[in-house]
Amino acid sequence: MVPQKVRAEIERLRREIQGHDRRYYVQDKPVISDTEYDQFMRRLKDLESQHPEAITPNSPTQRVGGTAVSDFASVHHAAAMLSLDNVYNEEELRQWHARLVKLLPPQEPILFIIEPKIDGLSCALTYENGRLVQAATRGDGETGEDVTANARTIRAIALNLEPPAPKKLEIRGEVYLGFSDFDKVNKEEEQAGREPFVNPRNCAAGSLRQKNPAVTAQRHLRFFAHSFGLWEGGAPIASEAGFLRSCAALGIPPVDHFEARTIDEVIRFYHEFKEQRIPTLPFAADGIVVKVDAYAQQKRLGFTAKSPRWAVAFKYPAQQASTLVEKVEFSVGRTGVITPVAKVKPVFCAGVTISSVTLHNFAEIERLGLKVGDHVLIERAGEVIPKVIKVNAELRTGKEKAVLPPKTCPSCGGKVVKEEEFVAFRCDNPSCPAQLKRLLLHFSSRPAMDIQGLGEAVVDQLVDSKKIMDVSGLYDLKKEDLLQLELFADKRAENLIAQIAATRERPLARLIFGLGIRQVGEKTAETLTELYALDALANASISDLTRIPEVGPIVAASIHDFFKSPETRKLISRLQAAGLNFKRSERKASGGKLAGKTFIFTGELESMTREAAEERVKDLGGKATSSVSAKTSYVVAGTDPGSKLRKATELGVPVLSEKGFLEIIQ
Ligand code: IVH
Repeated sequence: MVPQKVRAEIERLRREIQGHDRRYYVQDKPVISDTEYDQFMRRLKDLESQHPEAITPNSPTQRVGGTAVSDFASVHHAAAMLSLDNVYNEEELRQWHARLVKLLPPQEPILFIIEPKIDGLSCALTYENGRLVQAATRGDGETGEDVTANARTIRAIALNLEPPAPKKLEIRGEVYLGFSDFDKVNKEEEQAGREPFVNPRNCAAGSLRQKNPAVTAQRHLRFFAHSFGLWEGGAPIASEAGFLRSCAALGIPPVDHFEARTIDEVIRFYHEFKEQRIPTLPFAADGIVVKVDAYAQQKRLGFTAKSPRWAVAFKYPAQQASTLVEKVEFSVGRTGVITPVAKVKPVFCAGVTISSVTLHNFAEIERLGLKVGDHVLIERAGEVIPKVIKVNAELRTGKEKAVLPPKTCPSCGGKVVKEEEFVAFRCDNPSCPAQLKRLLLHFSSRPAMDIQGLGEAVVDQLVDSKKIMDVSGLYDLKKEDLLQLELFADKRAENLIAQIAATRERPLARLIFGLGIRQVGEKTAETLTELYALDALANASISDLTRIPEVGPIVAASIHDFFKSPETRKLISRLQAAGLNFKRSERKASGGKLAGKTFIFTGELESMTREAAEERVKDLGGKATSSVSAKTSYVVAGTDPGSKLRKATELGVPVLSEKGFLEIIQ
């Protein structure tokens, strides 16, 4: 039994947190700092871990729940999710308007609602009696995918609606990623040796369709409501503006909206919005959506096969320019991946001069059919990376040259190997100077070993002068070595040596992250060091590694391959000789959320092995034992539980299902 006082505090905290979510995401007027918000959350988590019986699925602490899935279930949309017709200029918009006028009674005034057209992906949220029960992607419009576990991690999506909530709602809107969060994700992707996302929309789509909700949670997706598929119960709504107001009252962030009374006003708004608002928006919008406000009029206007007649997307022309590909260069990344880059005749586009455009990989060159000497159309949308949209084959002279993947590394001349069909080509030489330079920069970056004063210019000189042949070479550097480089005087050399020396004490997770193992980001590195010292990790088998809940088969294989290579073995022993910290991280033995609690597992768990579950309990400060007594805090029963379950029931020890256990440890 949860004491009344505690229950009341838990409820107060939940209301408080929900209220702050609303002020932040719906009203855009936060009244507390992130730290204060985190304090409420921490207090609630503490109380819930002391009284797990009080946990409810829609508590704000339960956003990241469930386990990774291999496939999303299909969801059949109750009403098809249609798309909008697009218009690209004034004339087309006026034609759209003329059709409306013809279908409505003569002289009837029309109020237009104008909204930004958010460049994200549409998502349908179903609420029953005020609780979020399902989230689905659009899919082909008829059938989408069930992404509920992922959508629940999006803080802008209310898990509980503000009462009084209608009986059943299916709210549709856009899931998107702001520019700053997009940049953050891409930086992390690059640091982990993965391809960055091309734009915020792709990134949002990839994040919402993640197999593991914990990954979605880290991406900071947002949501705006713009339409609905179902609205049952509650006060009737009669207009788009009324719908958006009702969303806000229920705690669902509505898309921003503006009113216009004539089509000329709409056109004026279109231009003003482009000049004044779009450049300041924190997210990508590629046009405006113009809607007829009154539902009575919408009903008369109806739909064509694909889209409503009462709404249209008035798009902004993407920011494009034509130019010439002068050559294609190859850049070598930290993990040896070779990226083709088109060097183009400098051209002004979307406010900047562009002379270099990434082609991402050879599959992209193939897809575009791009050759050196081609005229190409490039685009730079709200995001920063310009891209080639298409090749203008009509302007070919016959002198264009095909782009072939290099046979040897442009930096070291080493062998180039092909990874997957047409996608990644990689320099196979582990001591390739270009790779080493990138790796050193990564190794010295702030989340890794944090060596200040080891910037690009210094790294270039150290590698080019062969003073350093691998990462461990940093630890052999002497002041005299540095003094031979350009721009190094006594003081600067001493500082850098001291900076490097200080990294010997850094926690193992930062060293592992700094080694630049493909697929291993900061989080994974940390998880690994909670279980392994470096020598143990180097000897872990793929099956050992996949037993860790956060590590999937691809990551496990990448870690295993990395440590298997003789070069890595040599590097590790040199780093050990240099005195780096190889020790696993200390468990947070006391004060963890399960401190003082004992757990017993019986039967088989689905999402993890029993050993992994016991490890997790220990990580959180609890104890995992094997014989049930009245002092046991919980017995966790999987499938086919043994006699321990009976004993627990006899002694009145609380029994948890696997799901209940996962809820406690999250
Ligand atoms: S209203 C019948 N409003 O654009 C469709 N859509 O092709 C009603 N979108 O898939 C949608 N911003 O996901 C609407 N303010 C907005 C929008 C918006 C973006 C997306 C929507 C839809 C696509 C239309």
